[in-house]
Amino acid sequence: MSGERTTYYITTPIYYADSDLHIGHAYCTVAADALARFNRLRGRRTFFLTGTDEHGQKIEEKARSLGKEPLALVDEVVARILPLWERLGISYDDFIRTTEPRHEAVVQAVFKRLHDQGDIYKAQYEGWYCTPCETFWLERQLGPEGRCPDCGREVRLLKEESYFFRLSKYQDRLLEYIDRNPDFIQPPGRRNEMVSFVRQGLEDLCVTRTTFDWGVPVPFDPDHVVYVWIDALTNYISALGYLSDDPGKRELFETFWPADVHLVGKEIMRFHAVIWPILLMALGLPLPKRVYGHGWLVLDGGKMSKSKGNIIDPHLLMDKYGVDAVRYFLLREIPFGADGRYSEASLVERVNVDLANDLGNLLNRTLTMVEKYCGGVVPAPSPEADDRSLEGLLADVGPRVARAMDDLQIPPALETIWELVDLGNRYIEENAPWNLARDPAKRDRLDTVLYNLLEALRAVAQLLIPFLRETPGRIWAQLGLGGDPAEVRWDEITGWGRLPPGTRVAKGQPLFPRIDPEAALGRGEGE
Ligand code: MSP
Repeated sequence: MSGERTTYYITTPIYYADSDLHIGHAYCTVAADALARFNRLRGRRTFFLTGTDEHGQKIEEKARSLGKEPLALVDEVVARILPLWERLGISYDDFIRTTEPRHEAVVQAVFKRLHDQGDIYKAQYEGWYCTPCETFWLERQLGPEGRCPDCGREVRLLKEESYFFRLSKYQDRLLEYIDRNPDFIQPPGRRNEMVSFVRQGLEDLCVTRTTFDWGVPVPFDPDHVVYVWIDALTNYISALGYLSDDPGKRELFETFWPADVHLVGKEIMRFHAVIWPILLMALGLPLPKRVYGHGWLVLDGGKMSKSKGNIIDPHLLMDKYGVDAVRYFLLREIPFGADGRYSEASLVERVNVDLANDLGNLLNRTLTMVEKYCGGVVPAPSPEADDRSLEGLLADVGPRVARAMDDLQIPPALETIWELVDLGNRYIEENAPWNLARDPAKRDRLDTVLYNLLEALRAVAQLLIPFLRETPGRIWAQLGLGGDPAEVRWDEITGWGRLPPGTRVAKGQPLFPRIDPEAALGRGEGE
């Protein structure tokens, strides 16, 4: 898919700055990070944006209840989010906060422009509002007992003079666009949901509030603040310097807009696949190429969320298992696009089977044999060897991983890399180097077999660069290689014979010591 593209722009939603992030939030951002790292490795100029959504009634009320200024509250939360992203190795190119002047100025300019062109008008609003979701609802849309149809919490009646955005005017254009661009909303199930939602009819959207202050003021009517979702969605272009006077900043917009992918959770698809595209249409801007709605990490049948009290703190998991175990689990275990059940027991199993047993043992066994039979030095393969099994698989794995990543299918990309790991382990059994070592006439064959294993491990270390933070470098060091394994291009990784014979290997600690499930999880507490 689109092999010639030279740039890649991926975003995750900007996180509500009223709460601490849990492993469910980390899921989306780790996935986006893997995609961004993969595209950088591929030589594409890549921009990965994330940030925090800091305005709105919810944050104002929470700050007040704590006796704090809203800005002081969000500053504290951001000061906790940034070290989490740092520890998880999130390689964002920009982190935007919606309280930054560079963002607020764009929100005001966009609002004024839409008002000047008649797409925003003033009228009386009467309807329901869910503050936790920051969402307006019509009477007929409410769920059982008149609650929020999304989160089931109480809604409140609003009667305010407000500004409205003419969503209804763009309804047919949006449907036509979705129809003509089958890749725009993914996966397909979510596209169908969005189409039927739009077909039910779009009402004009209330886009200002007057009963609290914590938002971006409407430039020509400062008693009103801009609705937090209009404010927040604009981050995807404000961060790129849209409407900026600074030519350096605008260059980012010209290079990266439209985005290649917005990765968002399924519950905020409606904002990203209906309101946001219409806002862009009204501004005369192209729409993002893909809006991908991923599923949730669920725990005991429900979405992990603070209000349910079932959140898992990523710091605690990383303290216990390390950053790569957590990243690997999130990227490998959860089918992208569907919900995935979180349990610590399945994390432990992934670490023990895939990382400790398959990958860790392949490295360990290979290096032990190189030490024992080759004095710890990478042997030269025999020029006559016609054994191409690992080489052939590597040539095939590279393009398959790339295809999976282009399709945002991250678990299959990792499975494909594990084909190489598995073949490596089978190759050891099939060739039994310990037998070859007993017969001096088989010295060439032994050298070839060990070289092939080492070279496959070199490739695996580099193939893992988009996914894991520490493991590629650790394999690299044990193979005795200097420099940074990430200083390579994707197409070079899959070429054969890059590991120089004569290198002295440096066998070290096992990559992933096996975890004792009983000790780690406690009896019967595995879920
Ligand atoms: N602030 C809005 C986004 C505005 S974007 C213009 C918001 N923030 S959030 O913090 O509630 O959620 C951020 C992202 O985390 C969403 O994509 C959401 O789906 C995702 N997740 C939150 N809990 C999750 C799980 N349990 N599992 C997977 N993703 C989850 O929405």
